[in-house]
Amino acid sequence: MKERIIIFDTTLRDGEQALQSSLTVSQKLEIALSLEKMGVDVIEVGFPISSPGDFESVKKISSVIKNSRICSLARCVDQDIDVAAESMKDSEKFRIHLFLGTSKIHVESKLRKNFNEIIDMAVRSIIRASKYTDDIEFSCEDAGRTSIDNLCLIVEKVIKAGATTINIPDTVGYTIPTEFSEIIRLLVLKVPNIDSAIISVHCHNDLGMAVGNSISAIQNGARQVEGTINGIGERAGNTALEEVIMAIKTKSDVLQKYTNIKINKIYATSKIVSQICQMPIPANKAIVGSNAFSHSSGIHQDGMIKNRNNYEIIFPESIGAKNISLNLTSRSGRAAVNYRMKEMGYKVCDYSIDQLYSSFLKLADQKGQVFDYDLEILAFANDKYKNLDNFYLKCFTIQKDYQGCFIVSVIISCDNKEIQQTSTSYYGPIDAIYLALNKIVQYPIQLKKFELLSQDLGDNSISRVSIIVEYNNRDFYGLGIEKDFITSSAQALINVFNYIWRLKTISIKLKNL
Ligand code: KIV
Ligand code: ZN
Repeated sequence: MKERIIIFDTTLRDGEQALQSSLTVSQKLEIALSLEKMGVDVIEVGFPISSPGDFESVKKISSVIKNSRICSLARCVDQDIDVAAESMKDSEKFRIHLFLGTSKIHVESKLRKNFNEIIDMAVRSIIRASKYTDDIEFSCEDAGRTSIDNLCLIVEKVIKAGATTINIPDTVGYTIPTEFSEIIRLLVLKVPNIDSAIISVHCHNDLGMAVGNSISAIQNGARQVEGTINGIGERAGNTALEEVIMAIKTKSDVLQKYTNIKINKIYATSKIVSQICQMPIPANKAIVGSNAFSHSSGIHQDGMIKNRNNYEIIFPESIGAKNISLNLTSRSGRAAVNYRMKEMGYKVCDYSIDQLYSSFLKLADQKGQVFDYDLEILAFANDKYKNLDNFYLKCFTIQKDYQGCFIVSVIISCDNKEIQQTSTSYYGPIDAIYLALNKIVQYPIQLKKFELLSQDLGDNSISRVSIIVEYNNRDFYGLGIEKDFITSSAQALINVFNYIWRLKTISIKLKNL
């Protein structure tokens, strides 16, 4: 019989600790709601004694979240425990999470105590926390570097005192899977009352082992895994929960475990966390990176088209991401180009693949990635239109008035005429300039993504803006690279307008526009 692994999310506590600025109450609530929707069992929502803002967030989230268990962190200090309980009192079921250093270095040089005093502090705190709840987690901080005898001793005592979950953190990410799983195996073997508690693991990623250590721990008796979405957290981060969840799912025959997570919500939750926390996801990040399901080499693309199982162990749509993504570059073969055209609704007799493929390769060499709309232009436009632009940014001025409103005046060349337009916005100069450009061009577009990368100042300054815009249910990518970020932003939109214009101008063979 497969055993269930409890998923404990600490994005809002350990993850938040690593952010450059704290999240607001409403941002934390949005993340908590998304975690609840995903079916996370326990959500650690904060460390309420640490700041009034954290207390408020925990209080708010506790009153709203109903389907996941709410948990708050507390040191083994009376006031911490009382405040944690107070912050969660609106929740029907809550957990207090106590932690105390147990490694020699933490006991001696951080806490300046001996190990017996540590055991006393832990036991007293558990007794205090049990006044408020019967769900108490105790973490042996820096367990990864704690002697196994001390670890077994304190675990036995805290279970006897009433701890219901025993967390074994590798706080500094020091262990490798064989060492970490051995700790769990020995706890199961040596602690006489271990069956009265759930063993949890909480790994950090300093050596890149967090997910591997967590999986090896569940193979040896751990029943709860702690981590964060996208692996955000102190230093190199925490265990990436989406990776653990998908490893448990994908390797369920080997591990004989399952979780209650709704995996089709993983992608959306990851996006929300990345956006709210302003922590971009690396393209090659497992499960949720933009390249995680995109295939680039011609051989892989051909294999994918023949049978997805050739190169996919997880179907992206199962986690709520987009279906097969073939990255069309100069490494792609004819099969991939034909496949994309078919996906867009064209038949091979609508175009000449020989002609299309040779102009595709030329464009791919210049541009890198080739998008669907590029293919359509290559397949159906006359040479006259292939490289032609209709919109050019000429100049603009920006002012900010005393009320904080930005006033922009912009001139672009369009249909070989110069057109001037003004616009205003309280949301900044880019919003104002985009409004003005939209007033001129009037394509019904929706900005879906805006990314700005600015580097250096003065002569070396460079700003790169990439945007994704939706038009008629299709995505258009625009890029602007200039010295300043406002011109780059305007150029990126002009770039998109030119793509749309070319598509609108070419043959009426294009059915979907
Ligand atoms: O890494 C750690 O040890 C922690 C504890 C508070 C569980 O985050
Ligand atoms: Zn941690």
